[in-house]
Amino acid sequence: MKVLITGGSGLIGSRLTTLLKEKNIEVVHLSRSPSSKFGIKVYQWDWKKKEIDENCFNGVTDIIHLAGAGIADKPWTMSRKHEIIKSRVETANLIFESLKKLNHPLNSYISASGIGYYGAITTDKVFTEEDQPHDDFIAKSCIYWEKSADQFSDIASRVVKLRTGVVLDKNSGALSKMDKTVKFGIGAPIGTGKQAMPWIHIEDIANLYLETLLDNTYNGIYNAVAPQQVNNEEVTKEIASTLNKPLFLPKVPAFVLRTIYGELSDIVLKGSYVSAKKLIKAGFEFQFPLLKQALEDIYKK
Ligand SMILES: NC(=O)c1ccc[n+]([C@@H]2O[C@H](COP(=O)([O-])OP(=O)(O)OC[C@H]3O[C@@H](n4cnc5c(N)ncnc54)[C@H](OP(=O)(O)O)[C@@H]3O)[C@@H](O)[C@H]2O)c1
Repeated sequence: MKVLITGGSGLIGSRLTTLLKEKNIEVVHLSRSPSSKFGIKVYQWDWKKKEIDENCFNGVTDIIHLAGAGIADKPWTMSRKHEIIKSRVETANLIFESLKKLNHPLNSYISASGIGYYGAITTDKVFTEEDQPHDDFIAKSCIYWEKSADQFSDIASRVVKLRTGVVLDKNSGALSKMDKTVKFGIGAPIGTGKQAMPWIHIEDIANLYLETLLDNTYNGIYNAVAPQQVNNEEVTKEIASTLNKPLFLPKVPAFVLRTIYGELSDIVLKGSYVSAKKLIKAGFEFQFPLLKQALEDIYKK
């Protein structure tokens, strides 16, 4: 087995690369920049120019596609929306076209996707993999992203798509932003606080990628979220309690976020519950099924 990871320099890719190295599985990265923090071979691409170093595919049996412009990094202007979609879809297309040309088959193509597939909406419904997508920007991004993964069924024995919830990590991603205000004693739930926040601990998502890679029975779509369903207010309270900080301020009104972030604010002001049942049925064992455990591990390390 030799694994090529796109976007391997990011939050999930970094942890996954370390896990692969610990298991002595050969791993290389495909990146926009040549530098590597892992002492592994890094190949370069520039998807905007349709340029890729085809040596990256030498001996590769499996591809994990994590690359993509940060969804919550910048306000959703029209050009940012294009970047969010194209950096996922056109990168996948570039890999697919290259592999077709090289007549290079794969064991598996494993792609990130997001729970945004179900839309930035607030309902009491718990979404499963069988549910239809919503029709807002974030859902459409996920639809295109997943479609670009589906084409790999022509050349790969398995295509796996992981609809990922908010990944919890101490130094990177959403939690490191949410906990800043709590640490300064000015933390508060956002909007009504009742919007769901499907989440997963960084160790669990990295281990899930590893498991889907090693276990041939994983095929198709899985919601990559922890089994415990929580909303924004519960998450904020749990962060404060783990950090021993008080939460006394009123909730942050929705209009404040809308004024600052525009449409992007929808993904924090709204949210639905997402089911982990299919993943559990597939045999995945969460190290951190409960939010309290996950936060204690993250902050007390
Ligand atoms: N973290 C989460 O909470 C979460 C939740 C749901 C879904 N996901 C998805 O899972 C994937 C991995 O997540 P992550 O948290 O590890 O992401 P991340 O830390 O943002 O890393 C993504 C990587 O993608 C590459 N990248 C960034 N902008 C790009 C662009 N404009 N064009 C091409 N490549 C670009 C970068 O690698 P190079 O600089 O090496 O090219 C970056 O390290 C992402 O697609 C993300 O949307 C993550």
